[in-house]
Amino acid sequence: MATTSREVRPISYPRGEIRASDFRVVEVEVRPPRPGEVLVRNTWTSVDAALRLRLREQAPPGYFPAFPLGEPMDGIMTVGEVVESHADGFAPGDSVWHAGGWRDYALVEAKTPALGGIGTLTKLDVRDAPPQAHLGPLGANGLAAYAGLLHVAGLAEKDVVWVSAAAGAVGSLVAQLAKIRGHRVIGSAGSDDKVRHLVTDLGVDAAFNYRDGPLPDLLREVAPDGIDVYFDNVGGDHLEAALGALRKGGRVAICGMISEYGAQAPPPGPGNLMLAVTKGLTIRGFRASDHAHLLPEMRQRMGSWLREGRVNHRETIVDGLAQAPSALAALLRGDNTGKTLVRIEDVPHRESVGH
Ligand SMILES: NC(=O)c1ccc[n+]([C@@H]2O[C@H](COP(=O)([O-])OP(=O)(O)OC[C@H]3O[C@@H](n4cnc5c(N)ncnc54)[C@H](OP(=O)(O)O)[C@@H]3O)[C@@H](O)[C@H]2O)c1
Repeated sequence: MATTSREVRPISYPRGEIRASDFRVVEVEVRPPRPGEVLVRNTWTSVDAALRLRLREQAPPGYFPAFPLGEPMDGIMTVGEVVESHADGFAPGDSVWHAGGWRDYALVEAKTPALGGIGTLTKLDVRDAPPQAHLGPLGANGLAAYAGLLHVAGLAEKDVVWVSAAAGAVGSLVAQLAKIRGHRVIGSAGSDDKVRHLVTDLGVDAAFNYRDGPLPDLLREVAPDGIDVYFDNVGGDHLEAALGALRKGGRVAICGMISEYGAQAPPPGPGNLMLAVTKGLTIRGFRASDHAHLLPEMRQRMGSWLREGRVNHRETIVDGLAQAPSALAALLRGDNTGKTLVRIEDVPHRESVGH
């Protein structure tokens, strides 16, 4: 018997800001699982800045492919509960993550690698942290923060660290991880409320609202002697300001460039890139999936920090599967704090005969 499910599908690529009309919610029949497959009822699905990169005709070369129009959006992290299993190691009731998000029910091939290995069907231990934490600090966001700061930027003793989009899902973890390691940390964000959150709840040493004036001036006020590490979530003017503020031998870990995701044409690069030569800077981009081997280590450490209350984890929760596109639009506007999640309503398990 098949199961009735809803899926969010893109029907046009957004120009600039994302609109609900770029998507359609479609009702489909999901067939029963075959050998090696598992049927999962999704409960929480992730909303990530980088989804914007796949909502266009072509994703950047080297990245996950663009979402085809009119098709389900494969490759979005999601957690849920196994309903039916024909795969070894998975049983009804298990909490799992997988990459078949933005839909009620997903048929998942248990052994097929997804999202570079970090989205492959995995059983979750939800005794100490709720399932949705595995989409944020205990999942890809935690891995991006952990690998980016410790391995890509090569955090070293006494480094002064600047994190942009520091109130967001990845940035908030980077800021707190650098604090746990004993560094002076500067965070920036786009509202005074977020700046207060950075100082009061996340414990950064200094924070500023990037809308308050020219970035080089704002940065000079909080880091008069410069910075050693810039964790870049934003690109554009933020990266340019960082190149100006970095000391000799400084390092940049480019995690993402959200300021450019909705651009119609490629924006110009930083005008002061020559400083990479004069100051001997290292600039490295990375993807969390390139560091999948660090996932167990990160989850073990992050899990302890969460339990000990050393990592403050904020969530922006949007209710209802159909709201996923507007949740993404809100994230790109900066309306979110911490991890953005869609809580999928508990749709009764309806089965239909004949499929
Ligand atoms: N490399 C990887 O493997 C990897 C993995 C996950 C995420 N990422 C990257 O990490 C970054 C954060 O992603 P996320 O999913 O955690 O999102 P997020 O930080 O939770 O949300 C994005 C934030 O970016 C800020 N923002 C939006 N437009 C901006 C602009 N023009 N200038 C400055 N700030 C802007 C907004 O906060 P404000 O209110 O502060 O503007 C918004 O809240 C993105 O660049 C994403 O692509 C990379």
